[in-house]
Amino acid sequence: MSTAPMPQFPTGFRWGVSTSAHQIEGATTADGRAPSIWDTFARSPGRISDGSSGEVACDHYHRHTEDVALLARLGVSAYRFSIAWPRIQPTGAGPANPAGLDFYDRLVDELLAAGVDPVATLYHWDLPQPLEDAGGWLHRDTAARFAEYAEKTAARLGDRVRLWITLNEPFIHMSLGYGMGVHAPGRMLLFDAFPVAHHQLLGHGLAVAALRTHTASPVAIANNYSPVRVLGDHDADRAAGAAYEALHNRLFTDPLLGRGYPELPGFDPSVIHPGDLDTIATPIDVLGVNYYNPTGVRAAEEGSPLPFDLVPLDGYPRTAFDWPVAPDGLRELLGWLRDTYGDALPPIEITESGCAYDDAPDADGQVADPERIAYLDGHLRAVRAAIDDGVDVRGYFVWSLLDNWEWAEGFTKRFGLVHVDYATQTRTPKSSYTWLRDVITASRPGS
Ligand code: NOJ
Repeated sequence: MSTAPMPQFPTGFRWGVSTSAHQIEGATTADGRAPSIWDTFARSPGRISDGSSGEVACDHYHRHTEDVALLARLGVSAYRFSIAWPRIQPTGAGPANPAGLDFYDRLVDELLAAGVDPVATLYHWDLPQPLEDAGGWLHRDTAARFAEYAEKTAARLGDRVRLWITLNEPFIHMSLGYGMGVHAPGRMLLFDAFPVAHHQLLGHGLAVAALRTHTASPVAIANNYSPVRVLGDHDADRAAGAAYEALHNRLFTDPLLGRGYPELPGFDPSVIHPGDLDTIATPIDVLGVNYYNPTGVRAAEEGSPLPFDLVPLDGYPRTAFDWPVAPDGLRELLGWLRDTYGDALPPIEITESGCAYDDAPDADGQVADPERIAYLDGHLRAVRAAIDDGVDVRGYFVWSLLDNWEWAEGFTKRFGLVHVDYATQTRTPKSSYTWLRDVITASRPGS
């Protein structure tokens, strides 16, 4: 880790942390909430590595006041949370459930009272189960249902949410949820999952318009990106790298920024109706960038169902997820976005960046996580370097405030700045929390 002082960030730079509803809230049957695809998936044996579910998670639904106090003490200027669609529309359609909206109404007011800007994600993967039963994101109608849900939510919260994010990581939702079957809804369609990309993007575009009828706040989408490192020196390796680039980094961003879809093997354009590409390219104000690591790619082995092989990258420290720690990848990615999209690229917020380690309290109850401090230090310096390179980056949100329910990994991966003892729900700020608090304080003008 660098011993040089952390460089200053531009005035007004947004310091934040992120969470999502299903990973922290629990209370999955409270106040009219009905099951989402993740409730169903977690009940199916063998899907979640520790057999757990999000039924209780961090019990944030009942402990939100304590969690907002943690945010206030951390000194962040923004908090990115997600709204659970099955709380607002338990069946995925029809009138809004007032008790569901009330929960987020209270949360938003508590945040504002604490001086923290509410940043709301509308869809962080928790599709109401009845919509999946009707075909989920493979079904065009889900896009219209999503816009309806966005409208109802913004009608209540549009005056106070400071930044709206339509979808979280639609690429990961499509590939892991509908392509490979390791996330909910657990479908293994490989490239037949492409309609899920189109319908999520269509839902996004319709939702942007719906949000704007109730809010003057900026609107964004949060995409996952991974800079591609081509391993191997053959044309086939380079072609594999380009195919993976198109799939992971361009499939969603090209159409969002008005370029239509990139060329992709297996993409059936019959799902695109006249006018869809214009809807998808409805202007957004901010591009949310979730970054975790680069991806090593080389030509596929004979007989592989995919047009590339993904290979582990050597030479980097690794997190408990075995992901390489590569802050240089974040600077590279931000430069790639600027070079690829030029003037079409809106201002960027890093809407997620973080790491999992096996953090545990010591005999005195303290949780030291020096690896996370080194991780955040490196990635913040990478953001600062990208700003110096001329990329318009406006904020950085750490994933995550709390250790939480990490999807198919259950409770086995801890990403929090705050340790959670799931047996007692005790929150213990880790040393990274104190470190980040000091970085934020030092970045304030006049410090
Ligand atoms: C991205 C997802 O948005 C989030 O839900 C997840 O916990 C983190 N990646 C870490 O895997």
